[in-house]
Amino acid sequence: MIYLDNHATTAVHPEVLEAMLPFFGDHFHNPSSGYRAGKVVRKAIEEARGEVAELIGAKEEEVVFTGCGTESNNMVLKSLARIYGRKESTVITGEIEHSAVLRPCEAMADVGFDVRRCGVDEEGRLRLAEFEKVCGEAKTGFASVMWANNETGVVQPIQEACELAKGAGLAFHTDAIQAVGKVRVDVGEVPVDFLSISGHKFHAPKGVGALYLREGVRFEPLIRGGGQEFGRRSGTENVAYIVGLGKAARLMRDGLERDEHAGIRANRDHLESRLSGELEGVTLNGSREHRVPTCAHVSFEGCEGAGLLILLDEAGVQVSTGSACMTGKQQPSHVQVAMGIDDERAKSSLRISFSSFTTREETDEAVDRIKAAVEKLRRVQGGSGVGPVVVFS
Ligand SMILES: Cc1ncc(COP(=O)(O)O)c(C=O)c1O
Repeated sequence: MIYLDNHATTAVHPEVLEAMLPFFGDHFHNPSSGYRAGKVVRKAIEEARGEVAELIGAKEEEVVFTGCGTESNNMVLKSLARIYGRKESTVITGEIEHSAVLRPCEAMADVGFDVRRCGVDEEGRLRLAEFEKVCGEAKTGFASVMWANNETGVVQPIQEACELAKGAGLAFHTDAIQAVGKVRVDVGEVPVDFLSISGHKFHAPKGVGALYLREGVRFEPLIRGGGQEFGRRSGTENVAYIVGLGKAARLMRDGLERDEHAGIRANRDHLESRLSGELEGVTLNGSREHRVPTCAHVSFEGCEGAGLLILLDEAGVQVSTGSACMTGKQQPSHVQVAMGIDDERAKSSLRISFSSFTTREETDEAVDRIKAAVEKLRRVQGGSGVGPVVVFS
């Protein structure tokens, strides 16, 4: 099986698993225990915190471990909602945000917050002029803009958005879940107040994340209890997973330093150029310049993505489609709608996403199998057929 769905999740790195295992065995102790065995476990957590902090240029005490990226986003958005209150506060976000930002913002709108969603251009990047205008109109409140989009991989003008929001006196959060470990993310360079991380997007296991909170920011905990994680996220720590996240952060930092991503980018670019050179009716969606190296978003004219996904699965290639099935009909994703991609093209798109585990041989083999599937689908039906429910994550 050729796995090309690394934006959905990544395989746990063998070194991450190895680092985690002792914490299911001999080191099972509670990190809050006063005896030496507890202190060993506490030290492992603090080392992991140091690794995550270093990956994003933060201080250790600015990093809190969470249960996942969705939790990190909810923690910060709900905290900000409570701090700012609904009267007179504006909540600004983007059309292409992940549901882990959009749904909490919708809940705020339901209780009376003035929630604004800014659009993107045809390349999938935030319209800064619109964002600036909305920030300027806000009396008080906060903004949340993703660093990189999960469907297209397009990197947002995050520095500019952050400066505009903060210049207007608004707090600023970024969902950096698809950026961390893939491109340089440094909170020293981009002065965000809050930043969300998810481990399973960069070879740690699913079910562990982190939230960066800049020193001095106001924060209201979502989960209260025993006061773990500086009182910001109570609950006995998920030690093994935190250790895994720390190890993965270390591997990503080393990888970025060694420019391991050049190899990932080369494979992605190779796939794109072969597909567009060897097949008719191929469109590459999203900015070519501003994007993470791990993602290709491709439309195949005359082929429904959902049908293609099934054929490819049978042929041993795992990818995602660019549409979701609603009441039996394929619907374009909200991201593609926001980019102004027409229905036909949106429904014929695939997200093909890479990691450092993807080899050149697999890339070439995947291209051959995608070509065969596209040609087959075009021959038999021009791409119709009901597909599975597929939601981008
Ligand atoms: C951009 C983005 N935000 C949030 C999430 C949610 O993260 P998690 O799966 O850790 O809850 C994902 C992935 O699913 C994502 O891609």
